Amino acid sequence: MPGRAPIAVALDAPDLETAARWAGLVTPHVSALKIGLELYLRYGPSVVASVRGASGAEIFLDLKLHDIPATVAGAARAVARLRPALLTVHAAAGAAAIRAAAEAIPAARIVAVTVLTSLSEADLARMGISGQVGDAVRRLAGLAVEAGARGLVCSPQEVTAVRAEVGDDIMLVTPGVRPAGTDVHDQARVATPEEALRSGADLLVIGRPITGAADPGAAAAAIAASLRRAEAVAARS
Ligand code: C5P
Repeated sequence: MPGRAPIAVALDAPDLETAARWAGLVTPHVSALKIGLELYLRYGPSVVASVRGASGAEIFLDLKLHDIPATVAGAARAVARLRPALLTVHAAAGAAAIRAAAEAIPAARIVAVTVLTSLSEADLARMGISGQVGDAVRRLAGLAVEAGARGLVCSPQEVTAVRAEVGDDIMLVTPGVRPAGTDVHDQARVATPEEALRSGADLLVIGRPITGAADPGAAAAAIAASLRRAEAVAARS
């Protein structure tokens, strides 16, 4: 959305009222609102209308679908009426499932999750996926894009390699973003918003640095302003 920073605020709220309040405060400054499994499963599809309000912010429905193609297609059709701009599907569900989702909800951008950042190389080895995590990420990214995903979730550290794999037309979405000097919480590998954008990310998922602030609206506005400054500097150089 023009004028709004490329940020999806993760509305990981304890209740619906809080999520709707945060949404109202941050929407003037950011392009998208991310609704995750916890909020969606607790309150159901009506959570989308509650956080969307009259704001016009795009909805990022982070349901991380992972099932057989027919079920993924059915799930995607079921949420189509909520008009999400973005919907996540696990790349590990396979090419047919990604394709089924893309066909079932053509108005949304299917964003594929490659390897969860909570998984280490040792975890992957136990699942029978050998080699480096980065290799698995690149393979899954390529597979998902070939099957019709138009976005990928990856860590800020993976953006450059994933971009090289999938080209410029794919939206790269990165969590693990922390303004300099703020609490990293449970995120292990973080980048500042400016670094994430500079490395080629298109949409930054930011939760607690905004929602945990005393004034979430002011926190979102400050990060949005820092991104505009970084873009202006990049355009001049
Ligand atoms: O509060 P914070 O900025 O860490 O929120 C990040 C959001 O991104 C949360 O909703 C979290 O579930 C999500 N996420 C993540 N790391 C991933 C994928 C998603 O932190 N690899």
